[in-house]
Amino acid sequence: MIRTIPRLAAAAALAAGLALLAGCERPPVETTQQGFRGTAMQHTVNPRIAAKDAAARPLPPEDAPQASADGPRAGQIYQNVKVLGGLSVAEFSRHMNAITQWVSPEQGCNYCHNGANFADDSKYTKVVARRMIQMTQALNSQWKVHTGATGVTCYTCHRGQPVPANMWFKPMTLARNATGVGMGNDFGQNKANGPGVSSLPYDPYSSYLLGDEQIKVYGKEPLPQGIGNGAPIQQAEKTYALMMHFSKSLGQNCTFCHNSQAFSHWVPKKVTAWHGIRMERDINNTYVVPLTNAFPKDRLGPQGDIGKAYCATCHQGQNKPVGGKEMAKLYEGLLAVAPVATLPPPVAEDKRSVLFFGVGSHELAPDQGKGLETLLTALGGNPKSVVLVSGYHSAAGEKAVNEDLAKKRAMAVRDALLASGVAATRVKLDKPQQTEANVAGEDPAARRVEVKLQ
Ligand code: HEC
Ligand code: HEC
Ligand code: HEC
Ligand code: HEC
Repeated sequence: MIRTIPRLAAAAALAAGLALLAGCERPPVETTQQGFRGTAMQHTVNPRIAAKDAAARPLPPEDAPQASADGPRAGQIYQNVKVLGGLSVAEFSRHMNAITQWVSPEQGCNYCHNGANFADDSKYTKVVARRMIQMTQALNSQWKVHTGATGVTCYTCHRGQPVPANMWFKPMTLARNATGVGMGNDFGQNKANGPGVSSLPYDPYSSYLLGDEQIKVYGKEPLPQGIGNGAPIQQAEKTYALMMHFSKSLGQNCTFCHNSQAFSHWVPKKVTAWHGIRMERDINNTYVVPLTNAFPKDRLGPQGDIGKAYCATCHQGQNKPVGGKEMAKLYEGLLAVAPVATLPPPVAEDKRSVLFFGVGSHELAPDQGKGLETLLTALGGNPKSVVLVSGYHSAAGEKAVNEDLAKKRAMAVRDALLASGVAATRVKLDKPQQTEANVAGEDPAARRVEVKLQ
């Protein structure tokens, strides 16, 4: 009787041990060497689980054979083609079909189009899609250092859905009192819903994939002491949170990109990832965030921000998105940044001039400056008249930045008037004006200065 107790205890311990092991993966386990020998840079896979994972992934839609590149250009035949105008009409249609398969297979063409008039831009989805085409072109050309031979199509992020499955919003922070301290303020962490189900900071993305704060843990000296010599603990925690996101997004361990003997060392995959971080900032700041005003309000996050991209948006658990399938090269229209359409000619009337500017530019092009000549003659003949100069900007992006741009455009025109001998007292500057109709800034009307004789 007495002797059975230790036996029972042993059996219980064995059962408990087995129960704990139930959480472990059954072998086999395969490792592939990733880095220089001796650095323990290896990638571990369980082929059984990998095969299951691969079988569960939907396949991308089949690519239609490339169409004839001959015949008239889409820009000559259609009325409102601003980006893909250089494609042949046949290739253009093939691109439209592919885009529909990638983004809105269930909703069809009319997800972006007014079926009665395909040239109409009234649906926000079409305006967004046009900008997304430009973004994809930049990802395949300017960011080839990251996107490589695999490249990017709409499918990389959208996977047959209008709203990508993986994107991030700025979370609500819990700051219950006005000073931001005290109970209820979690200082952006300790919520156990951070990256990798950890209590690390749950929003490392705003700092690193929108802003360009330093991603760093180690100090620059062997024994850093005192404030300012090492990375502060908050930065270290945020860095680890970001790293958890990297690992999870690519379905890889830390040693995929790091020699864990020295995380700060540079190895090839880490370099690719470094470019990926910079590319991500460009995606969000140049393309996605400026589309915020184009979106319906109910589609924005709790802080009023648009859904933004991070590593998971493209990678979705694989080290190369869509298993490294080289789809992009089959779509000529997505490979290179289309040349910026030339500016429309300036409007030159007796009492009014309209001069156009390039995107983000406040430089008055010489041929646009010529649009002032008629007005200058009128001013000469009417010495008491004054002119009002108004700069316009698009409704996309940061208001303060846009207003500054509109003001600089107006100043450039004012300088041109003064240089032509008009007295400073006869030139009045209006406050910056916003063009409501235009959202993404590709319409030149959103980049104009008007000069009116008063
Ligand atoms: C995800 C959005 C989207 C979907 C879906 C879509 N298109 Fe388009 N379509 C666009 C954009 C953006 C443009 C303008 C391209 C440019 O400016 O270079 C365009 C332009 C066009 C034009 C030129 C119209 C003109 O006169 O200016 C035609 C024709 C067209 N699409 C046909 C189709 C057809 C047919 C389908 C369905 C098979 C389709 N599109 C699906 C976004 C879309
Ligand atoms: C790098 C990833 C990425 C790529 C590549 C990409 N998109 Fe997007 N797309 C996004 C994100 C992020 C949003 C914003 C989603 C949101 O906030 O709801 C978006 C939104 C859209 C929307 C608006 C959908 C809606 O219902 O509101 C359309 C339309 C769209 N994209 C079309 C395209 C087309 C067409 C292409 C290819 C030419 C493309 N996208 C390529 C990430 C991407
Ligand atoms: C996809 C590649 C990738 C993966 C996976 C990855 N990292 Fe990183 N890591 C980077 C890059 C790139 C940097 C440097 C970023 C920069 O300098 O802008 C970095 C920086 C770091 C740093 C800061 C080093 C310094 O110089 O102070 C640490 C620590 C770190 N990673 C730890 C980890 C850990 C732990 C994991 C696993 C949870 C991990 N990383 C997974 C790419 C990766
Ligand atoms: C716009 C889509 C996109 C986004 C966003 C993106 N990547 Fe990539 N990434 C790719 C493509 C495409 C490849 C494959 C490149 C190739 O074929 O060489 C790739 C490859 C990589 C590789 C090399 C994988 C290998 O097996 O050689 C690393 C590492 C990587 N990405 C890290 C990141 C990190 C970290 C982020 C987020 C900061 C990120 N990527 C965001 C598209 C993307």
